[in-house]
Amino acid sequence: MSDVKLNAIAAMCDQNKGIGIKNQLPWSISEDAEYFLKVVKTTANKSKINAVIIGTNTWKSIPVQERPISPCLNVIISSKETNESLEYSQSADPKKILISRSINEAMIIIREKYSNTVESIYAIGGTRIYKEAMDSKFFNRFYLTRIFGSFNCDTFIEPKNFLDGFKKVDTSNLEKEEKMFNVTLNMLKSDPITGVSYIFEVYEKI
Ligand SMILES: NC(=O)c1ccc[n+]([C@@H]2O[C@H](COP(=O)([O-])OP(=O)(O)OC[C@H]3O[C@@H](n4cnc5c(N)ncnc54)[C@H](OP(=O)(O)O)[C@@H]3O)[C@@H](O)[C@H]2O)c1
Repeated sequence: MSDVKLNAIAAMCDQNKGIGIKNQLPWSISEDAEYFLKVVKTTANKSKINAVIIGTNTWKSIPVQERPISPCLNVIISSKETNESLEYSQSADPKKILISRSINEAMIIIREKYSNTVESIYAIGGTRIYKEAMDSKFFNRFYLTRIFGSFNCDTFIEPKNFLDGFKKVDTSNLEKEEKMFNVTLNMLKSDPITGVSYIFEVYEKI
């Protein structure tokens, strides 16, 4: 078994730990949307791809023609979806879509069958997916965008103290990531259109 790691990536309202409203994002921050795609799509080894682990609601929040997230292996965690029930882009490669009943099952399949092709695994939401990812023995890093301001949300990262047991990675230890993702981490920024402030941070399990 390879040592392919499980990470998470989320944008979260700093005030209430909210991540969604009515199955959409509560905000529009173009740099964060670009950063998300850059992180999940980029690999150090160009012959490999990353995998994303995604809950059914989050999967359905992506426009049909944009799913699966390419070129990633998309693993949908669902108790009832099947290959026949899932809707996705007609031009998609069905081999890049898997359905799994739990994160643990997904981790076993990826680590056993895809270790030669998958570099990193990212849990990309929602609530239960983040919780189960952080509880996994394979969990490594949380790529967290903190968003400042007041946002009405109906979906949250849980529990509220989810970062207990994690430490923020210093900028001095993020040079490789800043280069790879072409981004400045740990620096307060502001969206030029909405004026919303945000910061990209990375947390690691202690
Ligand atoms: N801000 C961010 O970074 C971010 C990221 C992702 C999502 N979001 C937002 O979060 C909201 C969606 O999140 P959500 O928490 O409502 O839904 P979700 O986790 O995307 O989907 C929940 C569904 O996925 C399936 N599922 C999830 N975990 C499972 C498990 N462990 N075992 C079996 N099935 C499981 C179940 O559906 P079945 O009925 O198929 O079993 C469950 O009802 C949206 O508003 C979205 O925009 C925000």
